[in-house]
Amino acid sequence: MAETPKIELRKVQKRFGPKTVLDSIDLTVEKGHSMVVIGGSGTGKSVMLKCILGLLHPTKGSIKVDGEEVTRISERHREKVLKKFGMLFQGAALFDSLKVWENVAFALIQGENMERGKARDVAMEKLAKVGLSSDVGDLNPSELSGGMQKRVGLARAIAHDPEIVFFDEPTTGLDPIMADVINQLIVDTVQDMGATALSITHDMASARKIADHMSMIYKGNIIWTGTAAEVDTCGNPYVDEFVNGRADGPMQMEVLKALPPAPSAKWQNSPPDLSVRIAALSRPNGRANATAATSGTLLSKRRQGPAQLLLQQPRNSLAAHASSSILCRWMGTRRKRHAISPA
Ligand SMILES: Nc1ncnc2c1ncn2[C@@H]1O[C@H](COP(=O)(O)OP(=O)(O)OP(=O)(O)O)[C@@H](O)[C@H]1O
Ligand SMILES: [Mg+2]
Repeated sequence: MAETPKIELRKVQKRFGPKTVLDSIDLTVEKGHSMVVIGGSGTGKSVMLKCILGLLHPTKGSIKVDGEEVTRISERHREKVLKKFGMLFQGAALFDSLKVWENVAFALIQGENMERGKARDVAMEKLAKVGLSSDVGDLNPSELSGGMQKRVGLARAIAHDPEIVFFDEPTTGLDPIMADVINQLIVDTVQDMGATALSITHDMASARKIADHMSMIYKGNIIWTGTAAEVDTCGNPYVDEFVNGRADGPMQMEVLKALPPAPSAKWQNSPPDLSVRIAALSRPNGRANATAATSGTLLSKRRQGPAQLLLQQPRNSLAAHASSSILCRWMGTRRKRHAISPA
């Protein structure tokens, strides 16, 4: 007989007033697996985790942990279930008023009434596990770098040897090298403990490193699930767009379709090759290190003052965008849409 899944979500819906964030989520995480749910910003990843933890109550649907329905249990019973979980929050979410070791030992002292001296020893052991020396334990969180804070968050997540660990965007805000260190620590600690892991991220490098199974969430539904090895060849156009960061996939097209139509009169008298100015590109540092995500030719970029970018594109190519927006990727930032107008 197949083993009971560690976590099972069926038709989970979460609405906030008229807004449906989770539509009908089906997700299964088997014991000992490392499942990573990928998906864009605002697609409902954190809300899904909060529903499993009981921090938010789903509007409809079923959530089972070890086969036990947890959507309709008493608060007292939930506390028991919560002991199975460790969680690394999206920000490290450390308590500023507590020393590092007290942060790590928080659940041991508050939840399990462990004596402080013993809890301190466990905290120091867990800090060592994530590569932090014992003198770090006596510092305040504000004295640590972002990467160190993430490590402390990880030590706290595993302090009580949980059966299930959740990782919410574990690499956000870290440089690629520190992100890789954290990813490796996650892999090692989860394997060491024999735990089940559920991570959510939009960082594909992190997903590839951590996952043995992956799912993709889009518009409040799980639209694909498979092994990590299948993610590049699954043939799902949404997954393909996300994994490869394409600017012309179905998700981007839906965004563009939702934009107001281009003022077509403006284009009628334009020459076959159209120059367009992407206006009002102000960046905090005023530099214009831009590359166009479209096939246009970059004509000029201003290096001082409000950034400005001129593109020349074949008329048809521009018309294909069917909107008054264009996609640009500014160095070090995400792709952005900008209004365009004839130069
Ligand atoms: N308590 C809440 N009340 C109302 N709306 C909420 C609440 N929590 C989340 N939302 C909305 O739910 C949507 C999904 O949010 P969520 O935090 O799950 O996104 P996410 O996929 O984790 O994004 P990111 O990758 O940026 O962290 C957002 O539109 C958000 O505004
Ligand atoms: Mg989130």
